[in-house]
Amino acid sequence: MEKKKNLITGGLGFISYYLARLLLDEGEEVVLFDVVAQSRLSKGISDRAKVVRGDLSNWVQVFDAVKDNDIGCIYHAGAVLPPVSEQSPSAAYAVNVNGTFNILEAARLLGVDSVIYPSTLATFGPGVPRVVPNDAPQHPPNMYGVTKLCSERLGEYYYSRFGVNFRGVRLTPILGMGRFDRAQSAYNYLAVQESAMGRPYTVYVDRSTTIALLYVKDVARGLLDLKRADNAKLTRRIYNLYGLSLTAQELVDAIRRQIPEAQLDFKPDQEMIRLVGNLPDRLDDTLARRDWGWSPRYSLDQAVGDFIEEVRANRAIFE
Ligand SMILES: NC(=O)c1ccc[n+]([C@@H]2O[C@H](COP(=O)([O-])OP(=O)(O)OC[C@H]3O[C@@H](n4cnc5c(N)ncnc54)[C@H](O)[C@@H]3O)[C@@H](O)[C@H]2O)c1
Repeated sequence: MEKKKNLITGGLGFISYYLARLLLDEGEEVVLFDVVAQSRLSKGISDRAKVVRGDLSNWVQVFDAVKDNDIGCIYHAGAVLPPVSEQSPSAAYAVNVNGTFNILEAARLLGVDSVIYPSTLATFGPGVPRVVPNDAPQHPPNMYGVTKLCSERLGEYYYSRFGVNFRGVRLTPILGMGRFDRAQSAYNYLAVQESAMGRPYTVYVDRSTTIALLYVKDVARGLLDLKRADNAKLTRRIYNLYGLSLTAQELVDAIRRQIPEAQLDFKPDQEMIRLVGNLPDRLDDTLARRDWGWSPRYSLDQAVGDFIEEVRANRAIFE
């Protein structure tokens, strides 16, 4: 009998919320695996998908979740992100490295068709070109980047050694309703979210500070497109993705085109500007475009407009 359900690890998180919605809208079945029982986003999805509570670092819980749910594809999005990864390197190692190992082992032993992995531009360290080639050297300076890079290599190894169909993408910071972190890129989502809620927001970088962003619905679509891509056309197991590069002023202008009364001002913080400045402006996504047709669908104005609609449809989350 053909296996057909999708397991999304970190299933109650931000990206997973949009991925689950997309898969469900496409008529697929979804199982959400997460260490928490609920999240601010989960109300919008848990009635349409099965939720399995478990810890990625626990082999038995991972194995049972895959074995008991007729899983054909694992979207492995569960992870410990900054700042927690830097405050607790051991937690980052246990969840991000051992968790990926557990997922790959379960996929191997149980014959799962594919494992799709969202990695990050944080796997590249300092010294890379501003436009980062797909195969640029990776020397990440923090634990998050180290663990995500290790997961990339584990996936490649499981593909070449055991034929586990591992595929991944490296993402830039993400714009979209439902982020709750305070990473250095947070001013982007906060500026849109607070404006959509009719509240003032002070941007903590310079007007000219530039950052690469992907709209979250493009990320979800990209993960699904990569899963469906013809394996014969894939020349890599991990692909850079790129959407938009924009200054903070360009983001503010885009918000004001949709909400002219938005109360946005600037109070630059030099440390945050330095941290954002360390991120590459752009990932070279030529190979993803060529091999499996990656192409972002949302322009800046479309992304901001859709983000505002999502906030207004989910106001209770932000009251
Ligand atoms: N948000 C971004 O800007 C961004 C950029 C690049 C890559 N990514 C990657 O995308 C993936 C999803 O990120 P997100 O932004 O949705 O993060 P998120 O924090 O919203 O979601 C992560 C989820 O993982 C869960 N989780 C944490 N520890 C777990 C454990 N031990 N067992 C099971 N689940 C556990 C959390 O409860 C959470 O629901 C991550 O792998 C991240 O590295 C995110």
